[in-house]
Amino acid sequence: MQEEISIPNHIGFIMDGNGRWAKKRGLIRTKGHQEGLETAKKIIKYSSDIGIKYVSLYAFSTENWKRTQEEVSFLMLLIKKHLKKEYNFYRENQIRVVHSGNLDGLPSDVKDEILSVVSDTSMYQGLTVNLLINYGGRDEIVRAVNKIIKNDKFDFITESDIKDHLDNPQIPDVDLMIRSSGEERLSNFLLWQCAYSEFYYSNVLWPDFSTDDLDMAIEAYKNRNRRFGGLHDK
Ligand code: FPP
Repeated sequence: MQEEISIPNHIGFIMDGNGRWAKKRGLIRTKGHQEGLETAKKIIKYSSDIGIKYVSLYAFSTENWKRTQEEVSFLMLLIKKHLKKEYNFYRENQIRVVHSGNLDGLPSDVKDEILSVVSDTSMYQGLTVNLLINYGGRDEIVRAVNKIIKNDKFDFITESDIKDHLDNPQIPDVDLMIRSSGEERLSNFLLWQCAYSEFYYSNVLWPDFSTDDLDMAIEAYKNRNRRFGGLHDK
């Protein structure tokens, strides 16, 4: 008999479908992002309540700069305002916020807001929320290798060297990666950390993604047979 595994320690979310959600309602795309942020908050709170330890959210990728200037500016403002406004939400729930991505490529006001929420929540011991902003999996690995080169260690490097120079080496690998909206791609999301993740695709557009949908994904995960390259246990 295959043993049921416990709830995932680290869940990654690719929050896809905001634009389509808005279009279906005759709204502008940015309305979808606004609603998507409300969903993200609900999912963060629920994850914290059910005892998930790490949640990673793909808020803005290194490829998202290709969108219209209007959409990019909106997303930057939305993220900045969220971080400023929701400090109490993170404090009340003892949630620690960390950031993954290239800070240097961000507008300085957004960068400052990220640095201050990361610092202000660093003592909390509950859920860790990893916000991926100006993030690309390949970019993270290249930046890690460049950090190693800068430290003069370039004759031979190991997997641990790379892992130790990722943006948040203390965060364990992703157990369950959830992508909403029916798209079945990884899109440069936590490439290193998803090496052995279970993938779950939901047809629900992100603004409609509910705690029931998350429960369904976790249930599916619990019935997976994780082998990490080993043999089946049945
Ligand atoms: C993808 O949907 C979504 C994004 C590129 C942005 C997601 C960002 C948020 C929900 C804000 C969250 C921020 C925090 C701080 C948690 P899409 O626009 O590609 O949708 P489409 O494929 O339907 O066009």
